[in-house]
Amino acid sequence: MSDTIRIQFVCLGNICRSPLAEAVFRDKVVDQGLGDRFDIESSGTGDWHVGEGADNRMRQTAADNGHSLEEHTASQFQAEDLQAYDHVFVMDKSNLNDVLYFDEDDRHSGKVRLFREFDPQPGDYQVPDPYYGGEEGFQNVYEIVSRTSEVILEQLVAEYDLNSGTAES
Ligand code: 4NP
Repeated sequence: MSDTIRIQFVCLGNICRSPLAEAVFRDKVVDQGLGDRFDIESSGTGDWHVGEGADNRMRQTAADNGHSLEEHTASQFQAEDLQAYDHVFVMDKSNLNDVLYFDEDDRHSGKVRLFREFDPQPGDYQVPDPYYGGEEGFQNVYEIVSRTSEVILEQLVAEYDLNSGTAES
């Protein structure tokens, strides 16, 4: 469908932060009856984990908070994604740098944003990488991702005027 809004979340490995953002954002979209308006994906800038499932600790945190990462398979961000997606939300400044590297003619930089630009408590505007840390890091990522996804969806609903004519049971 031509008016599908294409969203991609990007981190480094695509096994922790961006898969969680993908799942949480999708669940919020579906909760609002807007599932058919969005195409939601995630990827990593690195290729180390391509083809793998989500990190077990992130899976557990997602499950503890009512979301599932069981269907996730890691993929790597591709240059063509800059063309194909309407909004690319990156988890940290290193991801931002790596994604913008593909934007040779600076044609797509407007659609690439730090995810935490939308966080009401943005801290340093980066979602901390929990990979090498303890369990509490994963719950912290969840809290950030949940409240930020809420704001991003609110803003997209307003930007695309998604509330009119989408009332479903
Ligand atoms: P993510 O976390 O970028 O949130 O998926 C990481 C996963 C793997 C690695 C680093 C961060 N790694 O170095 O393999």
